Amino acid sequence: MPTKSALAQQLAVVAGFDNPRASLEQYRTPPDLAAHLVHTADLQGDIQGQTVIDLGCGTGMLALGAALRSPARVVGLDIDPAPLSTARENERKVGSTTPVSWVRADATTAPLCPPAEETTVVMNPPFGAQSDNEHADRRFLETAASIAGVSYSIHNEGSQSFVESFTDDNGGEVTHAFETEFDLPRQFDFHESDRQAITAEVYRIDWS
Ligand SMILES: C[S@@+](CC[C@H](N)C(=O)[O-])C[C@H]1O[C@@H](n2cnc3c(N)ncnc32)[C@H](O)[C@@H]1O
Repeated sequence: MPTKSALAQQLAVVAGFDNPRASLEQYRTPPDLAAHLVHTADLQGDIQGQTVIDLGCGTGMLALGAALRSPARVVGLDIDPAPLSTARENERKVGSTTPVSWVRADATTAPLCPPAEETTVVMNPPFGAQSDNEHADRRFLETAASIAGVSYSIHNEGSQSFVESFTDDNGGEVTHAFETEFDLPRQFDFHESDRQAITAEVYRIDWS
């Protein structure tokens, strides 16, 4: 299996959002974090031969990371058509061997019906932190619970009790978790400095 750092290098060419919309929390998942998530999923046997679905795929970063690790198929899904065009261009740049289906749809309405036991969801959903819509990620988790055998999701700091109780209530189990820090470049008016340090949490949930 190629290394995590090789994957991060391949993903470094993924371009960010052209005109990011703050209301949809459009920022690019950093390549290092995407590589960490996908490499961990691959080590767990959750990528190769699986259907991988990226909910809220934006620039395609997570979908493209998965596409580089021999899945059966990959779907990248976003509610906004603009980043889907960027994701298509990013697919050409990355040159992944597995083609990705880019789909415009609302991830919170469980728009797909794949065989759950062969399906892995990866996602960096909106957190709801800026819109007083705390746990906007809940509806993405509901979709993951209904379509996937396993999911990998990125949440904001302090989400552990929310994620664990949601998972318990929906018949899943958190099997792995890690904390990560990354810098977000200034891109919205409410950002007060050139870079904003974010602490995030990543969870692997087994829904089977
Ligand atoms: C934090 S960004 C994800 C970034 C993406 N992983 C990347 O690296 O580009 C959240 C994404 O969720 C999308 N989104 C927000 N609400 C959505 C919804 N209801 N259904 C589908 N996508 C949604 C946004 O358009 C945005 O692209």
